[in-house]
Amino acid sequence: MTDKELLSIAFDAMQKAYAPYSGYKVGAAIECSDGTVFTGCNVENAVNGASICAEQAAVAQAIGAGRHDFIRIAIVPSRGDEYCTPCGTCRQVLFEFSKDMEILCARADGRYASYKINGLLPYAFHLK
Ligand code: THU
Repeated sequence: MTDKELLSIAFDAMQKAYAPYSGYKVGAAIECSDGTVFTGCNVENAVNGASICAEQAAVAQAIGAGRHDFIRIAIVPSRGDEYCTPCGTCRQVLFEFSKDMEILCARADGRYASYKINGLLPYAFHLK
């Protein structure tokens, strides 16, 4: 699958986000080693700490389907001039499953940047 195809799947997921508080919708599409893709979107809540990010929703979908062999994730926001890079907690969640996962971070205009999780979260905490 091309980067653009994975970003397009994340874009579709973004449109389903529930983000009435920030107005910042995010979609994520996480790809497994055989090309299977799981999606997620952010789900906000009136209680701040109860919100979940798109990346964590996508990981939860995949884990629930018995998969954790992730190779790449695309993250797409609904607005803003900046690349949508994963928050600190999401970096830790992604690092759990692959030390060299590729992270495609898009902007609302469709441009994107590619990073490796190791670069986004150096010296990450790990137990295994
Ligand atoms: N958000 C994500 O879902 N993923 C990111 O990578 C960055 C931020 C969400 C959290 C919150 O619902 C909204 O975007 C604004 O912070």
